[in-house]
Amino acid sequence: MTMPTQTETARESAAFDIIDESDLIRVRKVLRTEAEATGLNLVDTTKLITAGSELARNILNYATGGRGRFRVEQIHGQGRRGVRATFADDGPGIDDVGQAMTDGFSTRGSMGLGLPGARRLVDDLTLASAAGSGTTVVIVKWQR
Ligand SMILES: Nc1ncnc2c1ncn2[C@@H]1O[C@H](COP(=O)(O)OP(=O)(O)OP(=O)(O)O)[C@@H](O)[C@H]1O
Ligand SMILES: [Mg+2]
Repeated sequence: MTMPTQTETARESAAFDIIDESDLIRVRKVLRTEAEATGLNLVDTTKLITAGSELARNILNYATGGRGRFRVEQIHGQGRRGVRATFADDGPGIDDVGQAMTDGFSTRGSMGLGLPGARRLVDDLTLASAAGSGTTVVIVKWQR
């Protein structure tokens, strides 16, 4: 996990609430648009969309009322461009983040591959969460 460098610049492209299935589709569309605008190749675009879908799905499944917020930015740093997407909610939070990032861990009998899978698909995934204080996941995909 790396923190954004100080030389990095960001421009917000879109931000909206995640409330229902239609917002998940919207997340996918916006990530595709931003990835293409940033010059990500097709494989990386698909990886970003897949990771983002898992995080939006988790908000619908686990956040209080199935609600959260999404924002996406185009970022520049060290001579390259990328896309940064943030998924935040005020839900119950995650007690043990290390456990949640482990393949096969699920509190609802699902596959438990959403978070660890998302991490493998992007260049950086940062998860900030604690029981009772919501969850924020930030993913970054750089142009190669
Ligand atoms: N936004 C969130 N708020 C609260 N808990 C979460 C959130 N996202 C994930 N979790 C917790 O982390 C666990 C692991 O998430 P992950 O997405 O890896 O697996 P899953 O959703 O259970 O299964 P899958 O994504 O494979 O269908 C979840 O079972 C849930 O307990
Ligand atoms: Mg999941």
